[in-house]
Amino acid sequence: MIFTEIIKRKRDDFALSREEIVSAIRGYTDGEIPDYQMSAFLMAVLLKGMNKDETMYLTDAMLNTGRIFDLSKIPGRKIDKHSTGGVGDKVSLILAPLVASCGVAVPMVSGRGLGHTGGTLDKLESIPGFRTSLEYNEFYKILEKIGVAMMGQTDEIAPADKSIYSLRDVTGTVESIPLITASILSKKLAEGIDGLVLDVKCGKGGFMKELKDAEALATSITSVAKGFGKKCVSLITNMDQPLGNYVGNSLEVIESIECLKGNGPQDLMEVTLTIGREMLVMGEKARDRDEAMVMLDDAIKSGGALALFRKMIELQGGNPEVTDDYSILPFSKDKKEIKAQDSGWISEIDAYEIGVVNLLLGGGRRRKEDAINPGVGIVFEKKVGDRVKKNEPLATIYYDKVLDGEIEQRFSSSIKIFPKVIEKPPVILGSRRL
Ligand code: URA
Repeated sequence: MIFTEIIKRKRDDFALSREEIVSAIRGYTDGEIPDYQMSAFLMAVLLKGMNKDETMYLTDAMLNTGRIFDLSKIPGRKIDKHSTGGVGDKVSLILAPLVASCGVAVPMVSGRGLGHTGGTLDKLESIPGFRTSLEYNEFYKILEKIGVAMMGQTDEIAPADKSIYSLRDVTGTVESIPLITASILSKKLAEGIDGLVLDVKCGKGGFMKELKDAEALATSITSVAKGFGKKCVSLITNMDQPLGNYVGNSLEVIESIECLKGNGPQDLMEVTLTIGREMLVMGEKARDRDEAMVMLDDAIKSGGALALFRKMIELQGGNPEVTDDYSILPFSKDKKEIKAQDSGWISEIDAYEIGVVNLLLGGGRRRKEDAINPGVGIVFEKKVGDRVKKNEPLATIYYDKVLDGEIEQRFSSSIKIFPKVIEKPPVILGSRRL
C-alpha cells in the first residue's frame, strides 16, 4: 500500500480499513515509513478522528507489534488500573498492593512522568534500589508469588506505541481520543488482563480539560476494551487541583505509605477506594461495591496492604524499611514556606501550574531522556475549599540549593484566595460502564 494515499484518505475524512491501518503501523515499526510521514498521518487522525472500528483496528495493530503476556496459569482474574495522567496522582502506588492484598492479582505496567504530569515509575524508583525494568519472567514470578508486580514498558510491550508516543509528544498530536485510546489499550491488553479500571483525569492538570472530552475518552476506551472482550469501567476524576497534599517523587512515596497506614487525605483516598471497589467487583472477590469497600478498609486497618507493599518493594530490589523510615528516601534539605497573602478561602490551586513548578524544580522531565531529582516537590497545607488567614502557611516548597524567583512567583500565582466561602470540589465527576 502507498502510505501517502492512506494519509490523504484520512485527511479527506474517510474511514480507514483494517488493512490500511495495519500497513501504517507495521510500516512505521519496521522503519519503512519515516517520522515525517507518520507525523502527517497522526495529525490527520487528530484533526479528523476515527470511528470505533478504526480505533479497534489501530489498537489491535499496535498491540500485535509486541508480545501479549500469558497469565492464564495465575489463578483468578487479573485486573489493572490506568490513569490518563495528572499531578500528585500516586493512586497506583497505593492501589496495586491494596487490591492485591484483597486477593485480586494486579499485573501493572506503568509509565514515566512527562511534561507537567508525574509517573508511577519515577515515584517507585525514588525508593533506593527499587527496579522497575523487569524481564517478563521476573515480573511473572513476583506476580505469581504475591499477586502484584509493577514494571515499566519494555521493547516487547506494544513497541509501536513506544515510538508513536514519542513522536506524538513532539508533534502536537497527544490530545486525540482515538490515539490515546489505542496507546493506553495496546499496552494494557498486552498485560494479559481480564479487566481494566480507567481513571480519566479531567481538569487543568489532565490531558482532558473539559468534562465532555473526558466523557468522550471514557466512552471510547470502555467500548474499545469491551470490543476486545475485556471488562472495563472508566471513572472521570477531578484534576483541577493536585491530588492529595504532596507533589514530587519521594514526597509522593511518603504520602502513599501514609495512605496504606490509614492516614491518607480525603480526596486521594476517595479516588483510590472508588477505583479499588471497581477492581474487587470486576475481579470477582467482592459481590458488590459495599462489600468491596469493607474489604479495602480491612486491608488498610489490618496492615495487610502495607505489608504487601513492603514485600513488593523487597522483591523488586528496594529497601522495604522505607515504610518505617522516610529518611531512606532522597530528600531536598532546602525548603521555603509560602504564606497566604490574604485571608479567605482557597478557590484554586492550578494543577497544571503546580506540575510545571515541580518540573522546573527538577522533579519532572521535558524530554524522555532527562534525569529527574526525586527529592524536590511541594507539600500543601491547604487545599481548595479550606479557610486560610493572612500569613498562615499555604505550602512548603522543597528545592535543590537555589529557589529561582520565577518558580516561586509562578507557584504563588497558581493559588487563589477568595473572600467568601468556597465549597470543596467534587472528586469523582462521572463514570462509564458499557
Ligand atoms: N497515556 C498513554 O499511555 N497514552 C496516551 O496517549 C496518553 C496518556
